[in-house]
Amino acid sequence: MSVTVRVPAKVNVQLAVGAARPDGYHDLANVFLAVGLHDEVTATAADELRVTCAGPDAGQVPLDRTNLAARAALLLAERYGRDADVHLHIAKDIPVAGGMAGGSADGAGALLACDTLWGTGASREELLDICAELGSDVPFSLVGGAALGTGRGERLTELEVGGAFHWVFAMAARGLSTPAVFREFDRLGQGRRIPEPVASRELLDALAKGDADALAATVSNDLQPAALSLFPELADTLAAGRAAGALASLVSGSGPTTAFLARDAEEAEGIAGALRASGTCRDVRMASGPVPGATVV
Ligand code: C5P
Repeated sequence: MSVTVRVPAKVNVQLAVGAARPDGYHDLANVFLAVGLHDEVTATAADELRVTCAGPDAGQVPLDRTNLAARAALLLAERYGRDADVHLHIAKDIPVAGGMAGGSADGAGALLACDTLWGTGASREELLDICAELGSDVPFSLVGGAALGTGRGERLTELEVGGAFHWVFAMAARGLSTPAVFREFDRLGQGRRIPEPVASRELLDALAKGDADALAATVSNDLQPAALSLFPELADTLAAGRAAGALASLVSGSGPTTAFLARDAEEAEGIAGALRASGTCRDVRMASGPVPGATVV
């Protein structure tokens, strides 16, 4: 028997980052929007834990116990006193090390797939708890839609969204490590007072109204200067998207994927074409959101 779970990517429409905490993490006001690029995780009963991956970026995905999908299976098995005797296959479409929560998606997907396969009957709260243990962005991958993440991003408040937002994503030639980007954020902020991160009222209103122009006026990413400092060529991609008429251009999360907000699907096509022709990125994808979180298919 097998169970397959589909899990979306995310873009951060606001990522406000506070000063480094004593534990090394940063308090965030992190507004997540789930968008229609998906990984699929299939769990099949097996003699022992095994992870495989297919897709254009599959070669960059670790298949050992550092993979969040493997860790999810191990944590759930440990809680329920059983073996993690499962083959997890990841059909990967979300860019790897891209700032779109691809690894987190696989963690949430594997958790829900194993939970369903094993019939553990874990409550939603228990699953969210395990997600938070796996990583700061993993609870959102389970929940989907749109949400404000506080704490290190794992404490979620679901948000109302009044319509679909159309995005174009430009994938970069190489990845960026999230810890490295946070370290660069700390380095750039040395000697400055970093304000407490707070969600923007205007941005939450724009989401609630489904108003793309108002959202474009309020998106922000405090990690963007750090991502640009480590990957200066991203400025060319951002400029190409702006020149093509994107309402907003920003780095997605810790990057290096860049995200461009379009007024509608047709304008998104035009921006995607211009970005492809610009030669400033490896690949271009279109996706709209919000979409549901991890779902058994
Ligand atoms: O929680 P997760 O393991 O996904 O985080 C990866 C890394 O990103 C952390 O080790 C830390 O360096 C950084 N991070 C942070 N503050 C957060 C979330 C992540 O500094 N709120």
